[in-house]
Amino acid sequence: MTRIQTPSIALSAQHVQKRYGQYQALLDASLDVRAGEIMALLGPNGAGKTTLIKILVTLISKDAGKVEILGHDLDRDPESIRHLIGYVGQDTERSAYARLTVWENLNFFGALRGMTAHEIRSQVDKLATFFDFNGQMDKQFVTLSGGQKQTVVIMRALLHDPPLVCLDEPTKGLDPLIARRIRAFLKRFVREQGKSLLLTSEGCTRHAPVRRVGERRPATGDHRAHPGARTSALQPGKGSGLDFVRRRRRAAWR
Ligand SMILES: Nc1ncnc2c1ncn2[C@@H]1O[C@H](COP(=O)(O)OP(=O)(O)OP(=O)(O)O)[C@@H](O)[C@H]1O
Ligand SMILES: [Mg+2]
Repeated sequence: MTRIQTPSIALSAQHVQKRYGQYQALLDASLDVRAGEIMALLGPNGAGKTTLIKILVTLISKDAGKVEILGHDLDRDPESIRHLIGYVGQDTERSAYARLTVWENLNFFGALRGMTAHEIRSQVDKLATFFDFNGQMDKQFVTLSGGQKQTVVIMRALLHDPPLVCLDEPTKGLDPLIARRIRAFLKRFVREQGKSLLLTSEGCTRHAPVRRVGERRPATGDHRAHPGARTSALQPGKGSGLDFVRRRRRAAWR
């Protein structure tokens, strides 16, 4: 019997560089995300977190470096990578149509992905149940609370059942209780569905083992240094610092 092997590294980015005009936003960014883990990318405003995530999800091009996602090379096979990744950007309000209902939005974006009506229906049912969202499906997006809107945008990213999900500040600006609820959903999602998550955030990193990168300090105070810390340097633009926090599947995530 042929057994499908899941690669242990879901995402590998090596020595990624990006300039905006004269400004070097990413100098030498390297990271990997293993299958079935949550990796948090930390750094102050302007550190290059969004830039790196946008490169990984094929929204913008890099100037140099190598990226492989589930065995596909970003330069040679961006189309396959688009199918393997779900992306949640920083701009929640503009990630769905205000006047459409939640169901209409998900139906629209599913069709855009080339999913059949049956696939959309079954996946939306699954996600609405998973995120406890069945009661909100007929509400217009514009009428939802901030946390509910973000949940819709996350469901949108998960519609095509991608093995790797990249989320840019998924709980920023949300009420702490709602933020915690969304994190709990994401954590369960990783645990139960065997997915990998790469996210940028600071709120989710409390009590997390931290992988310090280069000589930079963790972005917030209460991290433990990860004993197996690697030293692949990720050097973003001037004055900024990016760090990584890695969560194992079974580790508590608060
Ligand atoms: N399209 C662009 N054109 C020019 N400069 C840009 C562009 N996008 C980002 N930058 C610059 O690149 C740097 C990195 O920006 P980026 O948005 O990646 O940071 P970030 O770490 O996501 O910040 P934040 O925490 O505020 O979201 C910043 O100095 C920013 O001004
Ligand atoms: Mg950003």
